[in-house]
Amino acid sequence: MLRFRGPLERAVVSLVSKTDEQWSFIPISDHLRADLNDLGGPAYREPLSSSCQLDAKRLPGALYVLEGSSLGAQLLVKRAALLGLSAHHGARHLAQQTGDPKRWPAFVKTLERHGTEHPEEAVRGALDAFAAALEAFRHDD
Ligand code: HEM
Repeated sequence: MLRFRGPLERAVVSLVSKTDEQWSFIPISDHLRADLNDLGGPAYREPLSSSCQLDAKRLPGALYVLEGSSLGAQLLVKRAALLGLSAHHGARHLAQQTGDPKRWPAFVKTLERHGTEHPEEAVRGALDAFAAALEAFRHDD
């Protein structure tokens, strides 16, 4: 997940503007690093530069994938709890993703208000984000 989200979140953060919307982007890469550390995971060397071609028009699609995965996290956080993992150990990123159930509907509102100007580019951004996830999960080093 860190291999997927690390570079993408950095690209997103460089593009999102602070607004007074109900929703704002919260990266979880730091939580993923802490979870890896909790679990004694292998040292992870992040790529220095991101290979993702993200721009403002594609951003809504990338955000859709990043935020949408919090819906699946609702399921995963319960399974992680059965393994003894929590907001303080090993499941910090899942706790962050699931802590506020109002985030998803607030994001959808923001998306509907600002994310529909360039639908084809937005879809490209979502497809690229899914492709980046597939690529990241393929690695086993
Ligand atoms: C690359 C991004 C994503 C990843 C890595 C991801 C990962 C996962 C995983 C591992 C599960 C649990 C599957 C299981 O074991 O049953 C899941 C479930 C789910 N995901 Fe995703 N997901 C992503 C994007 C999205 C998006 C964009 C949405 C919707 C906008 C979404 C909605 C859901 C929902 C609703 C579930 C729960 C399904 C159920 O209750 O059975 N996910 N996801």
